[in-house]
Amino acid sequence: MRKPIIAGNWKMNKLAGDGARFVLNVREQLPEADKVEAVVCAPHIHLPLLTEAARDFQLGIGAQNMHFEDSGAFTGEVSPEMLKDILVDYVVIGHSERREMFGETDDSVNEKVKAAFKHEITPIVCVGETLEQRENNETFPFVEQQVKAGLAGLTEEQAKQVVIAYEPIWAIGTGKTATSEEANDVCAHIRQVLRDTFSGDVADAVRIQYGGSVKPANIDELLSQSDIDGALVGGASLEEESFVKLVEAGA
Ligand code: G3P
Repeated sequence: MRKPIIAGNWKMNKLAGDGARFVLNVREQLPEADKVEAVVCAPHIHLPLLTEAARDFQLGIGAQNMHFEDSGAFTGEVSPEMLKDILVDYVVIGHSERREMFGETDDSVNEKVKAAFKHEITPIVCVGETLEQRENNETFPFVEQQVKAGLAGLTEEQAKQVVIAYEPIWAIGTGKTATSEEANDVCAHIRQVLRDTFSGDVADAVRIQYGGSVKPANIDELLSQSDIDGALVGGASLEEESFVKLVEAGA
């Protein structure tokens, strides 16, 4: 049985003090950690305060990106070593917004996934198609390629720990959520790719989230699906009450 994982992706939102207050306010409202994994993925500026505020509570703190080198002449970047140093547990890698606007590629995603494991940070690897690809029935092969390239070179034990977030680009921030059947079909295909590429054990262990206009009103239907193990949520994770409801849905 895979433990559900509900992660909020704040994207470029909240000032540092608001972030810390958010974590302090929600951490004691969340369900028991043995039932569901709750994570907040915030801008780098927030992370030291958030990991301190979440200390001793079962609320994971994640980054939204990182470089794959530990240090060096990479102006503006943050390294996995720096994230681990402040006790960051997770890192979102390959979000469609970074692929679209900041040149993230399958190869750089793979470099970052490997670097995350080197520093014992759990990668949340984002995959997902454009509306044009969906309309052209290219979703399965496109997402398959992203999964295979993103996880290339991992051991079976590493692959089991990866969280994959299927986020159809046309559903992100649009209010247009994929139907639970559409989402589950792609998540089931991702699981089959994991089975074919690694093993049945890996396919059975990996948690696959859905992301794209998830709200408290639609998360139950999504989580009832056979191959959806959680959610990666943008807008609806920014409010405390909404985030708690999303996590409760996973419990
Ligand atoms: O990473 C999650 C994000 O891309 C989804 O955003 O606002 O559609 O929940 P939103």
